[in-house]
Amino acid sequence: MIARFLADEAATRALAGALAATQPATAVVHLHGDLGAGKSTLARGWLRALGITGTVRSPTYTLVERYPLPGGREALHLDLYRIGDAGELEFLGLDDADAALWLVEWPDRGARALPAADLRVELALADNGRQVRLLPASAAGETWLQALAASGSLRPFPEPNP
Ligand SMILES: Nc1ncnc2c1ncn2[C@@H]1O[C@H](COP(=O)(O)OP(=O)(O)OP(=O)(O)O)[C@@H](O)[C@H]1O
Ligand SMILES: [Mg+2]
Repeated sequence: MIARFLADEAATRALAGALAATQPATAVVHLHGDLGAGKSTLARGWLRALGITGTVRSPTYTLVERYPLPGGREALHLDLYRIGDAGELEFLGLDDADAALWLVEWPDRGARALPAADLRVELALADNGRQVRLLPASAAGETWLQALAASGSLRPFPEPNP
């Protein structure tokens, strides 16, 4: 588990960049946290870091937004806050998606229809910033977090400065 304090939105974006730079070939990421915790900020920063230059829309009502990646595969950004039933996911046509990346906000609401997570990200409000915890959820996730820690790209301070 890796825990860090993210003092501002730029810190959230920097974390997104570090995760994008170290992610495995296929990564399923569950983004946990209350309304306004920074899940979409992290997702947007991540997609930008992967080279997506166009508009990054919030999947609030569409449930999913799909982005072609430079290598020919896809990135999927889901927000399941407004899903009525996990079964609705089956109608989104994601079964045949060749996705290199799944970024899923409110994953508990679609749990049984989602692929298993490699990484669990927990965001929470803390002072004027955010606290983040990164928890591996698969063998690939374990390796990923080791690579992330070894990359030196994480900010060193795990707690808010006084
Ligand atoms: N580390 C941070 N410190 C302070 N503010 C932040 C930080 N990261 C993101 N924010 C801000 O938090 C606000 C809410 O962020 P965001 O929309 O990403 O939350 P969310 O978790 O996706 O919420 P929702 O569940 O409603 O979709 C934004 O205004 C964003 O700029
Ligand atoms: Mg959001």
